[in-house]
Amino acid sequence: MARDVTEREFEFTSAHFHTIKGYIAEHAGIALADSKQQMVYSRLVRRLRAKKIPDFDTYLKYLDQDDGSELINFINALTTNLTSFFRENHHFEYLTESIFPLLEQENASSRKIRIWSAGCSTGEEPYSIAITAREYFQSKPDWDVQIFASDLDSNVVQTAQDGIYAMDRVKGIASQRLKKWFLKGKGAQEGLVRVKPELQSILNFRQLNLLHTWPWKETFDIIFCRNVVIYFNKDTQRVLFGRFFENMVSEGHLLIGHSESLNNVSDRFKLIGKTIYRKSEA
Ligand SMILES: C[S@@+](CC[C@H](N)C(=O)[O-])C[C@H]1O[C@@H](n2cnc3c(N)ncnc32)[C@H](O)[C@@H]1O
Repeated sequence: MARDVTEREFEFTSAHFHTIKGYIAEHAGIALADSKQQMVYSRLVRRLRAKKIPDFDTYLKYLDQDDGSELINFINALTTNLTSFFRENHHFEYLTESIFPLLEQENASSRKIRIWSAGCSTGEEPYSIAITAREYFQSKPDWDVQIFASDLDSNVVQTAQDGIYAMDRVKGIASQRLKKWFLKGKGAQEGLVRVKPELQSILNFRQLNLLHTWPWKETFDIIFCRNVVIYFNKDTQRVLFGRFFENMVSEGHLLIGHSESLNNVSDRFKLIGKTIYRKSEA
């Protein structure tokens, strides 16, 4: 059995890594590259310390026999939650310039728009969508725009729901916009901002594993699934994008991350812009 020679607090072998790799593929669809061994060690070592578990053998047995609560912590520890407000800003510009004007015509009778941020991390993505929508529809209060935002990681969903961020997370947002949509913390909250309730009122957050059953009763006009499937294998991606297709309105819009593509994954969406697709019924 190959043994890693790096000096570590806990012994961590290739066999441990491969068991972990199997678990995360099975439960979260994430295909870990072999180069991620050190990353896996440093993230999981926190779980061993938190649970006062003496070694990886014991931890893996515990994971196997546990009622499922450690599995959530295990997945949370290994998923990457990197995000920011108005990340890949061309998507938000495209919402304002193309998608919302189009939906204003197409949905004129219902005046309803449904958007899903699938893999929303700590909330910066759905709040950016909400700001864009509220600004576009500010003179049209009879439009019912709702954003559903979900993530596998229960901790990030809680942060998203709280809507409280350190000042440096919002420094890229223009000052007028910042004033309009955020409240500055004072006293003990100095250095923090809080998203205004009127923005939160159009958001619905929930913990959801994309590989499990979805609770949605409606179909979506727009789905954001950005920088989530990068670690998923192609088969998992095929199934997932097939399910997105089924959960979207006819000609709905799908926005994916900058390093992602639907090549060899789905031909049921038509590429209409940079990482922007439209559901195609043809
Ligand atoms: C890098 S973040 C992307 C956040 C945001 N979409 C963006 O582009 O800024 C990826 C998110 O996908 C979530 N994720 C990974 N696997 C998932 C799964 N099977 N179901 C739901 N969310 C998942 C992670 O927890 C993480 O918060």
